[in-house]
Amino acid sequence: TENGWSSSNLVLYQGSRYVPNNFLQGVMAVQQHFKARPTDILLTAIPKSGTTWMKALIFSIVNRTHYDFTTHPLLTHNPQDCVPTLETNLYRKTSITNPDLLPSPRLFSTHISCSSLPKSIIDSSCQIVYICRNPKDVLVSNRYFGNKIRAKFNKDQPLLSLAEAFQLFCKGASPFGPYWEHVLGFWKASLEQPERILFLKYEDLRSNPLVYLRKLAQHLGYPFSLEEEKQGVLEKILNLCSFQNLSNLEVNKNPDKVSHVGVEYSAFFRKGQVGDWKNHLTADMIEHIDRITEQKFHGCDFSF
Ligand code: A3P
Repeated sequence: TENGWSSSNLVLYQGSRYVPNNFLQGVMAVQQHFKARPTDILLTAIPKSGTTWMKALIFSIVNRTHYDFTTHPLLTHNPQDCVPTLETNLYRKTSITNPDLLPSPRLFSTHISCSSLPKSIIDSSCQIVYICRNPKDVLVSNRYFGNKIRAKFNKDQPLLSLAEAFQLFCKGASPFGPYWEHVLGFWKASLEQPERILFLKYEDLRSNPLVYLRKLAQHLGYPFSLEEEKQGVLEKILNLCSFQNLSNLEVNKNPDKVSHVGVEYSAFFRKGQVGDWKNHLTADMIEHIDRITEQKFHGCDFSF
């Protein structure tokens, strides 16, 4: 199917990555044709880690002198349309935008894993931000999103049960998975190139938004001035990009408007909480996934 996100439509790419088959061509086109510029800003994440939120924050930081907060694009547009995703928006046959013609600084996002990033990004000095999220929340969020796509495009297939979604996720079969390798790839790269790759956690951003918003702006080369701090610009950005505001946009309520992956915009907003997995996973599932995480992340000094 054209828009399948369901697990049966995941294909193994370069021997070890699971890519939704309808994105595969896009991923390969990015690798072959994308020419990074030093001024590019690239958001990277495995799906369901907070990409939409980060798109809004990065867009707001970089463009904050161009718009005022009463007529800002994010009051009418879903963040997905403010920051294009390379493999699904720009490098598909149907794309009408030529990325080479976009003015600098260009903002992009991608779900491509670190080891599969195109050479032009690796060789460039462009800034990269990675957002990661607790695997248990990613799993729950992913099942919800995948089932939205199934319900729409794979009507012949039953919705994924929690047990199935869990099994697939644990064996690495999630979009752009395995989850752990995706995170580790960017974590290691961020240690090697800290001035270039900022590694953020969804949970930190939720519990300490001001601190991480400052860090993000600094990293992107758009630090907040003292004047902006005094004027409450940071609070305004956080408010504009909040789950509450973005999930209530008119565009999300319009069932005729669909996002770049074919489902309605509202699919990118569910609960936006930390730890919702507690309401879904069984004790056995929690123990199993924690054990995998402990093994895979052993020796890394980060945890959830
Ligand atoms: P939940 O399904 O747990 O609610 P992505 O954007 O990478 O696809 O991730 C989607 C997840 O981020 C969803 O998680 C969604 O609700 C959450 N999300 C979207 N916008 C958010 C925001 N502004 N603040 C916090 N979480 C947000």
